[in-house]
Amino acid sequence: MKNITIVGTGHVGLVTGVTLAEIGHQVVCYDINENDIALMKAGISPFYEPELTDLLKKNLNKGQLFFTGDPKLALVDAEIIYIAVGTPTAENGSVDLSYIKEAAKTIAENITKQEVIVVTKSTVPVGTNKLIQQVIVTNLTNEVNVNIVSNPEFLREGSAIYDTFSADRIVIGSDCEKAASIIEEIHRPFGITIFITDLLSAEMIKYSSNAFLATKISFINEIANLCEKVGANIEEVAHGMGLDFRIGTQFLKAGIGFGGSCFPKDTRGLIQQATEAGQSLEILEAVIKVNKQQKYSLMNKAKQRFGNLKDKKIAILGLAFKPNTNDVRESIAIDIASELTMQGALVTAYDPLALEEAKQILGEKIQYALSIEEAITNTDMVFIATDWDEFKDFPLEKYEMLMKHPIIFDGKNSYSLDEISEYNIEYYSVGRPFLNKSNFYNLK
Ligand code: UDX
Repeated sequence: MKNITIVGTGHVGLVTGVTLAEIGHQVVCYDINENDIALMKAGISPFYEPELTDLLKKNLNKGQLFFTGDPKLALVDAEIIYIAVGTPTAENGSVDLSYIKEAAKTIAENITKQEVIVVTKSTVPVGTNKLIQQVIVTNLTNEVNVNIVSNPEFLREGSAIYDTFSADRIVIGSDCEKAASIIEEIHRPFGITIFITDLLSAEMIKYSSNAFLATKISFINEIANLCEKVGANIEEVAHGMGLDFRIGTQFLKAGIGFGGSCFPKDTRGLIQQATEAGQSLEILEAVIKVNKQQKYSLMNKAKQRFGNLKDKKIAILGLAFKPNTNDVRESIAIDIASELTMQGALVTAYDPLALEEAKQILGEKIQYALSIEEAITNTDMVFIATDWDEFKDFPLEKYEMLMKHPIIFDGKNSYSLDEISEYNIEYYSVGRPFLNKSNFYNLK
């Protein structure tokens, strides 16, 4: 068992801390945000993540997990330190490393053990771990031998705990064999394949994995648009493609594009790194371009259908960037809501978890509803922008009963065409045939 300290208790840091405690390590989580620390000390997670609160409480009670806002206390006995602070996009499009540098400095000033391993969990551009080592070495106040390991995370929000215990691989990168094998030992109880590589390659694996997954999404979205033109069904196409193991079924779900705190930022970040290295990444440039266009594909269908959207009453179902989270960072739903109001539409939105978060961005521009029913009542059309189960389970007859005329623009293919065809609903989805058993089509 090792004394582990986590620096930065955002999504990645808290999940890492809680799960390392769960497999038996002694973990201290440190953050400069005293409010969050107070919440976590009381067993409350500052953000929503399924299963997290139970594990947090359990390990707090067992004495495996501590929280502090005091860097001295957090780092004095630390043998292994995970850096999990944010790496936002800077104004010039590059990756802002100021939190990383600050964390490295804090670590340097407070560590006292003879041997310390610093593990980077944050997504950082290639070469950053070397910079971290430099910052630590130049700011050390005690004589400490510091080794650096890159251990990128591949967790998806909304299933981060599940992913930690069932990931396909754990990547450990280091130029120090001993440090890599100590970190390998720490992760062994997860029972997951561990791949050990050099520092720079580990950093690259993280970015290229996210870029590749984003590429799959933009690719399938373009094929979905083509399916609409030629009359094929993207779900059949994606399924048939995915049966080939070389392609795989995952991340071939067509929709309104990718959002969230990782894919948009990491694709931009990788392009910036390539530019700095004197290379262009043409495929990735196209991935981002397609994603931007896809964002407004639903709205374009609505505009085509109605002529213009001025004064139309529109309900948006879903504001979080994906289900099972209250995260609205780079959420496509938020951009759609914003654009619809610019077109003069009167928007009411509902989300099971992210209403407060959305309000902070959209403010008074739209109305907020506390249920699907409230959101859709008396509306001209519904946009579905997040694939929450609550929307999939919603009885379709209620659209018929509550809307002026049931017209749905579904950006997440939430309903099967078979079930929709049993109702008088005019239904537009992504990459699938348009369904209209109703006689609303002449409505403008
Ligand atoms: C992602 C990566 O999956 C994870 O490995 C990495 O560590 C962090 O970034 P996350 O952003 O939490 O995780 O969500 P993810 O489930 O990957 O979805 C990202 C976006 O892609 C969402 O907007 C989602 O709706 C969209 N998406 C995903 C699709 O449009 N189609 C798909 O098939 C899959």
